[in-house]
Amino acid sequence: MNPKILHTVNYGLFVVSTRLNEKKNGYIANTVMQLTANPVKFGVSCNKDNFTAGLILQNKKFSVSVLAKSCGRPIISKFGYKSGSKVEKFVDVQYFETENGTPVVTEKCVAWMEFELDEHYDVGSHYLFIGKLLNGDILSDEEPLTYSYYLDEYKGVAPKNAPTYISKELRKKYKL
Ligand SMILES: Cc1cc2nc3c(=O)[nH]c(=O)nc-3n(C[C@H](O)[C@H](O)[C@H](O)COP(=O)(O)O)c2cc1C
Repeated sequence: MNPKILHTVNYGLFVVSTRLNEKKNGYIANTVMQLTANPVKFGVSCNKDNFTAGLILQNKKFSVSVLAKSCGRPIISKFGYKSGSKVEKFVDVQYFETENGTPVVTEKCVAWMEFELDEHYDVGSHYLFIGKLLNGDILSDEEPLTYSYYLDEYKGVAPKNAPTYISKELRKKYKL
């Protein structure tokens, strides 16, 4: 099957963050979507191997920061290509903590939201986290980054832990 069909589905790009005690951590996700309007609930797909996954399961609160179109590569490599089990991501980045103590990345972001974990589903390699919206705000009037802009203009790819990962061989075969 031509994997190009998967690239016709578009997304935004986000930093999903949480904390457990003193450890703050976050990862880059494209799979963030609104599921219901009343109350507002979102779904977030998180690889079980992501360090953040275990923290969200225990803390039961997380934030979603919406990356700006002009965010640049460094913030994506910091949160999307490194694991919080090995590095401290919440240094040299602008963020604040909500009244619940949830860290929220504000640097290069246009909006943020905080969620309470409502339910989670085991969908194989990933957990589907369902979060109920608690709070949020606009940070800038810049355009948000889209996944297709990241693929086309940043020449970015999705690493192995991303649900939208496509192997190098298939990308080469189908000229993706
Ligand atoms: C463009 C892009 C999109 C990604 N989308 C997701 C995603 O939706 N879900 C996911 O679990 N990982 C996704 N990832 C991978 C995680 O961000 C990556 O595995 C990260 O290093 C995990 O960090 P952690 O181990 O500190 O939690 C994505 C990465 C990139 C660069």
